[in-house]
Amino acid sequence: MKTLKEKILNNGESINGGLLKVDNFLNHQIDASLMMEIAKEFVRRYSGKQIDKIITVEASGIAPATMVGYLLDLPVLFAKKSKPGTMGSNMLTAEVFSFTKNSSYTMYINGSYLNSGEKYLFIDDFLANGKAAEGILGLVTQAGAEIVGMGFIIEKGFQNGGKELRDKGIHVESLAIIESLDNGKIVFRE
Ligand code: G4P
Repeated sequence: MKTLKEKILNNGESINGGLLKVDNFLNHQIDASLMMEIAKEFVRRYSGKQIDKIITVEASGIAPATMVGYLLDLPVLFAKKSKPGTMGSNMLTAEVFSFTKNSSYTMYINGSYLNSGEKYLFIDDFLANGKAAEGILGLVTQAGAEIVGMGFIIEKGFQNGGKELRDKGIHVESLAIIESLDNGKIVFRE
């Protein structure tokens, strides 16, 4: 996606440890017009699939997922990363280990929003090691529902999440794939 790649080159910053900082338009401040273009591209790439609901994880997945939900007129469900006092007992959980943060967290979803037999499109900002995506896959599977695709704005192609998800047979679409961030230079996979 050309506009996204230009935005990454003009505003992204490669920082220590193979991290891409895109706070300017994605992780802190949000470029809503770009986010709508991104959502339209996801809708195009998953056209023809039956989708009942969009699913994501708080926080940065919510903006793109919401715009996809708006375009498809579908509800958007997000996993929470802290236990809500209001959730009650019908709660599905998954443990997720973040390599980037070197720590684990629990994802929570109220089981009454995740229904057996439904088809879910997962949307998130980054695909690195794929652990958040695996957590969502676990929750959706626990509920007897199905993932029909996983769309990411930015995939870090030098980490193994993309390969692991595609090897499971999941329809993964990433709008920009980073080949390397070595020496402070952002290089895309063609
Ligand atoms: P994984 O889910 O693919 O395994 O990724 P990992 O646990 O390693 O990453 C943890 C968090 O760091 C995730 O955000 C992920 O989106 C983000 N992340 C990973 N690599 C990069 C990167 O190069 N740049 C940026 N900006 N983020 C990266 P999170 O903790 O869920 O945070 P948020 O959704 O609240 O932003």
